[in-house]
Amino acid sequence: MALFQKSRKAEEIGQADLPRHIGIIMDGNGRWAKKRGLPRTAGHAAGAETFRRVATYCKNIGVEYLTVYAFSTENWKRPPEEVAAIMGLLEKYLGEAIEKMERDGIRLKFFGDTSVLSDQLRGLIRETDGITAHLGKTFQANVCVNYGGRDEIVRAARAWAERVRAGEDEALTEDAFAALLDSSGIPDPELLIRPGGEKRLSNFLLWQSAYSELVFTDTLWPDFGEADIDAAIAEYRQRQRRFGGL
Ligand code: IPE
Ligand code: IPE
Ligand code: MG
Repeated sequence: MALFQKSRKAEEIGQADLPRHIGIIMDGNGRWAKKRGLPRTAGHAAGAETFRRVATYCKNIGVEYLTVYAFSTENWKRPPEEVAAIMGLLEKYLGEAIEKMERDGIRLKFFGDTSVLSDQLRGLIRETDGITAHLGKTFQANVCVNYGGRDEIVRAARAWAERVRAGEDEALTEDAFAALLDSSGIPDPELLIRPGGEKRLSNFLLWQSAYSELVFTDTLWPDFGEADIDAAIAEYRQRQRRFGGL
């Protein structure tokens, strides 16, 4: 059934010029909740469900990588109750996802500085990493938690400095540096989508988005669905990508 679904969906959308890697800034959860007279945390819970649906859809249409922004290095500025609720949702989601990863053939990876997260969350992340390591080449979802593009670049620069200190004298090239980023080994996202109406990157994938096509939509993340992915891919396919050439 799953295989049949994948091929039918994949055929419908077409594989020509399909982005291999899509990045999404999952924004608008709070406003979605406010519009319904609900606490902001209800928006985050709805947003987690949306992630589940969108990831499954991306996998079914033949996208290879999906990178989502779940919690930024700046999001610690929010009230502690909201931060705790988001972390609680991540724990709940991960616990459930771990059980299903192998069955669904979904690799899960984390981007960001996870060293400051709770013991429980770090334990779950280690567990997912263990499963991911022995899963074959399948669809991969990268979840950005305590992630900032600047922080990622600084962590990579520190790792490079360590190498130099250790006496390794490899030349610093763009490729050598990129291999030290959280996204090491993963192609840059061809398409970056921001729902929620804001038109900025908010510190998401600063290095990797150098030539990404950007699509902004007013749809709030919990309302985002398959049709929005289809529309973003259609818009992406209209773009002429020149990479500085003619
Ligand atoms: C995105 O939704 C989720 C996180 C940043 C954790 P927001 O919580 O930013 O929702 P809005 O932008 O306030 O509506
Ligand atoms: C970006 O959304 C971060 C995530 C979606 C995790 P924000 O809501 O934090 O971004 P700003 O504050 O509008 O720039
Ligand atoms: Mg927001």
